[in-house]
Amino acid sequence: MYSTRIPLIFFAILLSQLISAQTTPAASANAKMKTFVDALMKKMTLDEKIGQLNLPGSGDIVTGQAGNSDIAKKIKEGKVGGLFNIKSVAKIKDVQKIAVEQSRLKIPLIFGMDVIHGYETVFPIPLGLSCSWDMQAVERSARIAAIEASADGICWTFSPMVDIARDARWGRIAEGSGEDPYLGSQIAKAMVKGYQGNDLSLNNTIMACVKHFALYGAAEAGRDYNTTDMSHQRMYNDYLPPYKAATDAGAGSVMASFNEIDGIPATANKWLLTDVLRKQWGFKGFVVTDYTGINEMIDHGMGDLQNVSGLALKAGIDMDMVGEGILTTIKKSLQEGKVTIQQIDAACRRILEAKYKLGLFEDPYRYCDEQRAKTEIFTDAHRKEAREIAAQSFVLLKNQQNVLPLKKSGTVALIGPLADNKENMPGTWSVAANFANATSLLTGLKAVAGNNVKILTARGSNLDEDSVFEERAGMFGKSLRRDSRAANVILDEALAIANQSDVIVAALGESSEMSGESSSRSNIEIPKIQQDLLRALLKTGKPVVLVLFTGRPLALKWEQENVPAILNVWFGGSEAGFAIADVLFGDVNPSGKLSTTFPQNIGQVPIFYSHKNTGRPLPSGQWFQKFRSNYLDVSNEPLYPFGFGLSYSNFSYGDIKLSSVALRGNQTLTASITVTNNGSVAGKEVVQLYIRDLIGSVTRPVKELKGFQKVELKAGETKTVTFSITTNDLKFYNYDLKYDWEPGEFVIMIGGNSRDVKEGKVNWKK
Ligand code: BGC
Repeated sequence: MYSTRIPLIFFAILLSQLISAQTTPAASANAKMKTFVDALMKKMTLDEKIGQLNLPGSGDIVTGQAGNSDIAKKIKEGKVGGLFNIKSVAKIKDVQKIAVEQSRLKIPLIFGMDVIHGYETVFPIPLGLSCSWDMQAVERSARIAAIEASADGICWTFSPMVDIARDARWGRIAEGSGEDPYLGSQIAKAMVKGYQGNDLSLNNTIMACVKHFALYGAAEAGRDYNTTDMSHQRMYNDYLPPYKAATDAGAGSVMASFNEIDGIPATANKWLLTDVLRKQWGFKGFVVTDYTGINEMIDHGMGDLQNVSGLALKAGIDMDMVGEGILTTIKKSLQEGKVTIQQIDAACRRILEAKYKLGLFEDPYRYCDEQRAKTEIFTDAHRKEAREIAAQSFVLLKNQQNVLPLKKSGTVALIGPLADNKENMPGTWSVAANFANATSLLTGLKAVAGNNVKILTARGSNLDEDSVFEERAGMFGKSLRRDSRAANVILDEALAIANQSDVIVAALGESSEMSGESSSRSNIEIPKIQQDLLRALLKTGKPVVLVLFTGRPLALKWEQENVPAILNVWFGGSEAGFAIADVLFGDVNPSGKLSTTFPQNIGQVPIFYSHKNTGRPLPSGQWFQKFRSNYLDVSNEPLYPFGFGLSYSNFSYGDIKLSSVALRGNQTLTASITVTNNGSVAGKEVVQLYIRDLIGSVTRPVKELKGFQKVELKAGETKTVTFSITTNDLKFYNYDLKYDWEPGEFVIMIGGNSRDVKEGKVNWKK
């Protein structure tokens, strides 16, 4: 009896599982999509299929005149799959109309844009946002960006940018989340969730595009578009995790990077785009090139346009941004047997699937609701959130004798080339921003200070002595309005004002285009003319607060030694002026922590906390010893370590408590610590967990971030913060690129930054 019943039950369960596997909502949605795309592709000519792979530059489209644009002809001929960086629902609607009314198969276009840190409501540059260590804030910023962009016709964003960057010379460090794969992965996930929500077909969610795949942040010498070359171990352990986190979170598309990997440009790297991305990670979306990424392979030395276009398609590229290499050569390559129809079909299918998932076939105007465009963009509610989030991104680097917060009385002298400049507040990649709507620091200070504060202001200096450099640093309309008066006249005017004040706020640093794409710097100090201004301001004997604008870590050794207070505000977005004032006057207590190490000088770059120990580390407490791994002229220490940031509160940590010091296999270790706010105001502290694997089959970093919690503590309050650690937290890619953990001793560290930690040791056996 018994023996015959077991198989019957077994088969019944199997059958029900099989049935339910085929009928889960996801499976039946996929089946429906397949049927739809199959039917459509049967009707498509080869040229129409190739047309879907084309993402041309959008040219100059004028509302109401789109039909006359160069691009219109191509759209009608079915030679365009999508367009990007067109702003306004009216324009997008006009262009979509051409596709769905005048092309043979009426296939809608996909509309993309670089919505990198907000749409019209602009949030801090990503490097700044990452310093909030607040995943809800990060997700919220992406959600609001999606609501606004989708209200204006956009359904696809070229974000998140998740390139790990450890070289402050590289301007695009501003666009990512800093140096750490763990923090970067959490942020990548939060952003994808914010953009895509749970249902991509809703009219207020947009498709994410993870970029730049891969390793773009490791460009040699920090020079943009330069070569990258690294071991697969570093790649898998340090650089690839955030891209994987984003695709695991369901990101609908990926953008290939400009750089080469193992000697083959990413755009033609089959190992990367097919073996890793699709086979190892199971990515199902589509891959777009970066801007002219295919054509650039001619200069990389990979062959002529036909050759490189074929290589790209074969590697796994589905859509060609701007260069039209695929559009103009792939048919010939097919005829010559250099690519197959299956490869063209696969790419075309993925583009059509993306459009299907976005609901564009159901309603091509889904994202073109003019009413939404009027009511959901740059709203008071969005601006309020942007202001709050911006304040969380600022990092207080120094605050000697509590110069900050400022009192809401007396006279403040606001001085510097960035004191009254709203165009530079939103930061690099604020494509959709309306600069007229941004708030300058002067406006923000006046609004927050109240009636008892007198605010005086002067420029003090230009951004840089060199007007040609200044022009380069003010591209894209972010004018610095250069002052043509002699430098000493500008300075004297500022000093006269400074002398009348109780406190000086110096708004200095980089302009927003001194970081970002194609803005690498070989000198990462504050421009000399501004340093001179700062020195002169300090000589007045008044307390000076440096409000530092920057898109990268700067070398601030002199400033750290001489300026009483430094608040790093990055580029905080459209509401930056208010948010900075909120923090300066203490309405908001700063809580940002660096997601990137600040070096003492440029020679230390690349510098990052999770380095290896080497065979000749320095003995502790020493900064130089002959025949040890160090410099003759500077210690190995950063100026400000990863994870560092002060507060108007003062936090202290108790000793670390471990639930066990000897663990086995799948047991869980609990590590806890008490954190006390010894200050007189409530504040937020980012409590960070690091682990060191003392002995490995390959060398392991001196510490790696494995968790963090942002906790709020009232004045005088103590909280216990607890982390649960399992062997998942100990895993890494070994020499054979197998992801596993190895038994042995581990140092568990908890602290308020990567340098100042309390530690304990455990032994973990298999
Ligand atoms: C950048 C990308 C961007 C693209 C489209 C390229 O130059 O590298 O990050 O998404 O342009 O604007």
